[in-house]
Amino acid sequence: MPAIVRIAAAALVLGLAGPALAAPAASPAPAPAAEAFSLAPLPYAYEALEPVIDAQTMRIHHGKHHQAYVNNLNTAVKASPALQGKSLEAILADVQNQPAVVRNNAGGHYNHTLFWTLMAPPGTGGEPSAALADRIRKDFGSIDAFKQAFQAAGAQRFGSGWAWLVWTGDKLVVTSTPYQDNPLMGDAPVKGAPIIANDVWEHAYYLKYQNNRGAYLSGWWGVLNWNQANRLFETATRKGK
Ligand SMILES: [Fe+2]
Repeated sequence: MPAIVRIAAAALVLGLAGPALAAPAASPAPAPAAEAFSLAPLPYAYEALEPVIDAQTMRIHHGKHHQAYVNNLNTAVKASPALQGKSLEAILADVQNQPAVVRNNAGGHYNHTLFWTLMAPPGTGGEPSAALADRIRKDFGSIDAFKQAFQAAGAQRFGSGWAWLVWTGDKLVVTSTPYQDNPLMGDAPVKGAPIIANDVWEHAYYLKYQNNRGAYLSGWWGVLNWNQANRLFETATRKGK
């Protein structure tokens, strides 16, 4: 065998053949379409809110419940061209014209995203700012009276829902909503900017507090992130001027 033929044969055996002899490359798979919404990591560790909220509750609440709202919302958006490209706030503003699956999961995603930021490890959440404290005293009489009203709203919400402190544009109001409804929804009875929100679904407290929602509500002040409430109030009132 001439030397050149021997070299070519050896190259084939060793897999050294050039591009002309290689199998054609497979065409690259199309990249999957980006999901419209995603679950952000918690801004603290799962165990960071103990002893008020236990790590297992936080792990399931964030990783399972909130993730399910995000997944279901993305599925609903894919099925509805009218929702594609819309912000979460825009979807909520028109949610009365959408099927229940959009209402429940857009609300669930918005509410939980807000809720995580409104909590902080015990001892780190700060105090109400002078502006927020003054406004609370004006609308409720005292900080304690506001807390009582907020806890009562959470306790009296039958079944699953949320307790809220809302800036309506000219005053602070305590209210509650069923399921995953919130004050941004187009048909909300009390519309406005959320300042404080607490989740009173059993999945938020049942592992530690069982049926004692009242103990969860009174203990929850220990993880309230007043610093975030102050920022939300500052933003909401600045917009209204
Ligand atoms: Fe929840």
